[in-house]
Amino acid sequence: MEKFIYLDNAATTFPKPREVYDFIYSFCSKHGVNPGRSGFDASIEAEEMVFETRKMLMELFNGDGDPNRLTFSYNASDSLNMVIQGIAEKGDHIVTTMLEHNSVIRPLHHLQVDGIAEVDYVPFDDSGYIDPDDIKKALRPHTKMVIVNHCSNVLGTIQPVAEIGKICKESGVLFIVDGAQGAGVVDMDMQAMGVDIYVFTGHKSLMGPTGIGGSYVMEGVPVRITRFGGTGVRSAQLTHLEEYPYRLECGTLNIAGVAGLNAGVKWINEKGMENIHNQEIVLWDKLRVGLQCIDKVTVYCAENTENQNPVLSFNIKGLPSDDVGMMLDVDYNIACRTGLQCAPKVHERLGTDRIHGTVRFGLGPFNTEEEIDAVLKAVNEISSIR
Ligand code: ALA
Repeated sequence: MEKFIYLDNAATTFPKPREVYDFIYSFCSKHGVNPGRSGFDASIEAEEMVFETRKMLMELFNGDGDPNRLTFSYNASDSLNMVIQGIAEKGDHIVTTMLEHNSVIRPLHHLQVDGIAEVDYVPFDDSGYIDPDDIKKALRPHTKMVIVNHCSNVLGTIQPVAEIGKICKESGVLFIVDGAQGAGVVDMDMQAMGVDIYVFTGHKSLMGPTGIGGSYVMEGVPVRITRFGGTGVRSAQLTHLEEYPYRLECGTLNIAGVAGLNAGVKWINEKGMENIHNQEIVLWDKLRVGLQCIDKVTVYCAENTENQNPVLSFNIKGLPSDDVGMMLDVDYNIACRTGLQCAPKVHERLGTDRIHGTVRFGLGPFNTEEEIDAVLKAVNEISSIR
């Protein structure tokens, strides 16, 4: 059997750093109790670890200084649902893009079909980027929010968030960034970039386990409470607590998930986010150039390493992406993702919706040059048998 090569890091990074597995085990075996609900030592330790994780993430995204506004959820889809439904009101207009994942498209679609909001989707250019001027042109007097992908999960293109943030600030429109693919590997400075809400997931570039994600909501950004439940605080009160973090959290937290995220962020801070990104993008470029040299291979929107996350989509002429993915898996032990990757409008814009989407490679910090050589050899062989 060939060595297993994992190129599905855009879905979930794998493996995680050893420190993440170790810390989940050591923390949960000593302090894996209910954080913030009780006064015994293990509960206080658990609460302290949770607060430290909120603070590290707030600092990583440069939120405006209150770690409690960094709230945890299951993942980016979960937090996007909470903030979109907590902000949208009847009669609103919302601007988003054709780069979005279904975690944005579906909550917005339901607002549309329920007659609550109108939604406009701004297309991306031929290189995979949103033109901030197109966002500006799409704004209307009743536009409540703009929601933009930090990086495309299909193309890896890093969007001009700071320019869009400036337009939103000038227009008095809320700006939400879906950082599922960016958080932990691409710079996010909420204050400098004019971002009102940054949503993240823990299991991708933040190197945590699945089942943990969240958002940071800037001071003064109005998000209504849409979920109600236990907080461990003021239990006699029947209404849900207004203050953060309780406002967007109810029920017992995923303590193993937060512990993994804690160790993941420490690992990133120690390595340096830029170093991790640079290492990955060098391999991405080798992959891009190698794929572009193969006859019958079409690579989508991958021109150079500028504003690029290490994600790449391609097709082999005459072969559905699912077949290529299956051959890579069965014959070469290479893991990737195929099809529409939960981002149907990207494929609509590229025209790849008519040919079953694309094959997607997502690189991570543990991929090597030898693996890229093996992947290029495999794609070359697959393309030459047809
Ligand atoms: N959103 C993840 C992906 O792009 C699962 O594959």
